[in-house]
Amino acid sequence: MTTNPKRHLVTSALPYANGPLHIGHIAGAYLPADIYVKFLRMCNEDVVFVCGSDEHGAAITLRAKKEGITPQEIVDKYHEINKKAFADFGIDFDIYHRTSSKLHHETASEFFLKLEENNVFEVEESEQFYDEEYHQFLADRYVTGTCPKCANDNAYGDQCEKCGSALSPTELINPKSTLSGKSPEMRTTKHWFLPMNRDEQWLKEWITTGKLDGVDQHIPAQWRNQVQGQCMSWIDGGLGARAMTRDLDWGVPVPLKGADGKVLYVWLDAPIGYVSATKQWAADNGKNWKDYWKKDENTHLTHFIAKDNIVFHAIIFPILLRAHGEFNLPFNVPANEFLNLEGDKISTSREWAVWLHEYIADFEGKEDELRYVLTSIAPENKDSEFTWKDYQSRVNNELVAILGNFVNRSLVLTQKYYEGTMPALGELAEIDKKVMDEMGAIPTRIAEKIKAHKYRDGLAAAMTMARLGNKYLADTEPWKLAKTDPIRVETILHISNQIVANLAIVLRPFLPNTCGKLNQFLGQPELDWSHAGKSDLLAAGQQIEKPSLLFAKIEEEQIEKQVEKLNIRKAEKEKAAKVKPVLEPKENITFEDFQKMDIRMGTVLEAEKVKKTDKLLKLKVDTGIDIRTIVSGIAEHFTPEQIVNKQVTVLMNLPPRKIRGVVSEGMLLMAENENGELSELRGSDANSAGDLIG
Ligand code: MF3
Ligand code: ZN
Repeated sequence: MTTNPKRHLVTSALPYANGPLHIGHIAGAYLPADIYVKFLRMCNEDVVFVCGSDEHGAAITLRAKKEGITPQEIVDKYHEINKKAFADFGIDFDIYHRTSSKLHHETASEFFLKLEENNVFEVEESEQFYDEEYHQFLADRYVTGTCPKCANDNAYGDQCEKCGSALSPTELINPKSTLSGKSPEMRTTKHWFLPMNRDEQWLKEWITTGKLDGVDQHIPAQWRNQVQGQCMSWIDGGLGARAMTRDLDWGVPVPLKGADGKVLYVWLDAPIGYVSATKQWAADNGKNWKDYWKKDENTHLTHFIAKDNIVFHAIIFPILLRAHGEFNLPFNVPANEFLNLEGDKISTSREWAVWLHEYIADFEGKEDELRYVLTSIAPENKDSEFTWKDYQSRVNNELVAILGNFVNRSLVLTQKYYEGTMPALGELAEIDKKVMDEMGAIPTRIAEKIKAHKYRDGLAAAMTMARLGNKYLADTEPWKLAKTDPIRVETILHISNQIVANLAIVLRPFLPNTCGKLNQFLGQPELDWSHAGKSDLLAAGQQIEKPSLLFAKIEEEQIEKQVEKLNIRKAEKEKAAKVKPVLEPKENITFEDFQKMDIRMGTVLEAEKVKKTDKLLKLKVDTGIDIRTIVSGIAEHFTPEQIVNKQVTVLMNLPPRKIRGVVSEGMLLMAENENGELSELRGSDANSAGDLIG
């Protein structure tokens, strides 16, 4: 293995094409990757940066159902929106591909067939959840329930987004179909399973020592602690088998006989999207895609993802790549933790998010400001938080007051004294030598941080160069010397302009637009990283343009508007959530069915709460023909005192049933209104939703 690889293949998680991108996505898997890639390109490394839309899986079909359009329409819509938002934001993919493309379908099918040929799968019939009403097997996100590991109530059948655990639907506590909302049935179906227990040994060694089959393949010390930790805890917990196929009609069809109506599991199909994207890029650019994917410790594959994707990129996909036989494994998986927003988790469904395309529209030309803030608060080791107040103060106190201020002073003074002509360097004072030395040392520090995926520190190091420039001008005070010592002023401004020229290099991975402007002011071409730190980037006598301001202050009013927008959406969502959906009408029954019911009026004689329950009342009811015990789930609506002596409607001929140790000999009939309140059937509540409560 070499630390100076021949090639880099950099991937960012393929976002589901089921909704727009928000700042949490950007901070997690896209902006850090973009900084890394821009840096590598400036070092003239051979690097390909691939991404694209993840267009299969339940994430897509469920969204299509919600919007009442086809899955294809959903992915077509969001693929374009997201592709444009990335481009507008300056995220520089070499290709933004799609998993619904023909090339991807072919690539994924071939990959699967090769695995099948290598006897990687175990084909098994098993019991899976099935929704009777929708005639569909319920895989992954089609089931929700309580996470067995962390008790999160909204875990999906494939994964808990709260604790990151990979799950299978049957592990969920209280599983519910996302289609009908009901508890699912079990039905038998056949699937191709990937047994993973046989991979535990090599995975452990690979993750902890970096060795793969005895060859050094990555540097374990460079993997983030939490990534290694998560992987090891899963492996130590034992890796079970996972189905790699699904009973769905949206996805890459399983390319085998006897597999009609089955598609590849989206988490098998999507990461192969990195391969098909590379193929498409290579075809478009006269390159060989295999150069970037074949087994080679001198090619570094780096997956940028958020923490909920760790298991798929650091365990399952590596197992598949290795089982296939011809592929390189990741060199690093720098997963980020989550970004929160204004004290709460970012949530697409609750619309608690700052959408990238909206930011770009609201803050025209301020992409770099957001890049700066998101990098400064990147959730590299723990969750972090975006607030508009913090955004404002970082822009105003750092970008405006430090970077913008320094550049402006240096270039404006050059205009003022020399009409923009770069002054000459004269005799050097101690302070000049010192500042040039310090400047010369900064780029190495930045580079080290970027290579170690410490982007927060890298940006902070780059900003020390602007601070250095500010301090240099404050210490030398050229504006005071202009009359008395003009030769000295030439030297000072020569040096401070060299610092500006350096900023245009070292900040470029982070703030590409700003550096474009700087280069334009200076008449400087885009210089590669090898020039960073040098004090002779600009020649005496060259012309420097009149600068415009790099950054403007963010006003109170601008951020108030953003906070208000968030709160309005939140209030609307909460209001919408309060309106309980009316239950769907049930199928008609026959009149004969109805006639079978023995319904009578009765009087409640006695009522008491059933011990250790919140909902149940035990009643004695006089039905006119007998006195019966009935257990009814109405304790949250009526106290025993309220119901005694009241007339109730009783369904008499249900078979007696034991509830919490008490035999119940009938059912009270009541209806629930839209506020969840019960009324007796004899009442005249026209809004009754009509669900019977026993
Ligand atoms: N679409 C997935 C998500 O948003 C990420 C897929 S990454 C890839 O969580 F590996 F599948 F491509
Ligand atoms: Zn969990």
